[in-house]
Amino acid sequence: MDENNKKIGRNKKDSNDDMINLVDNLNRQDDVKYNRRSFLKATVGASVTLGLATLPFSIKAMMDDGAKDVNRVEIAKLSDVPKGESFKFGYPTEDDMALLVHTKNGQLKAYNSKCTHLSCPVFYESTKDVLLCPCHKGYFNVSTGHPMAGPPQRELPLIELEVIDDVIYAVGRKIRHG
Ligand code: FES
Repeated sequence: MDENNKKIGRNKKDSNDDMINLVDNLNRQDDVKYNRRSFLKATVGASVTLGLATLPFSIKAMMDDGAKDVNRVEIAKLSDVPKGESFKFGYPTEDDMALLVHTKNGQLKAYNSKCTHLSCPVFYESTKDVLLCPCHKGYFNVSTGHPMAGPPQRELPLIELEVIDDVIYAVGRKIRHG
């Protein structure tokens, strides 16, 4: 075999190998395409399944959010709590001590009265128009429930009120942070 035939033979052989490689590569590309498609299908399927599975919880959470801590409880008659006086009650349960305050300037305010420092009961100090925790002299603003002086750093939980026909109701609670 002369030099040219060797080249032809080698080229011919190489050409067949190239065809096989090309077909292999095409098959591999198809595999990648199918694998990618399968992966996408599986991912979308899993997302839809998860979304559907959690949908009832999402709906419940949305419904709960609107009704959160709403529990209407009669506290006292407005005429029984004159300006400058306070009244103890429990909210949202009997065990959650709370204080209704009719301030000297006529505001009606209510808070859970467990001090946010170390849980002593807070009282209305009418002469200074503040809420006072006697344990470590913690002071809270009666209009906002925010700590003013002493060790407490957090607000008292605010109890929302409604007055209908001389009756004061607790209708909700806001637990604030900061
Ligand atoms: S418990 Fe109220 S100031 Fe410490």
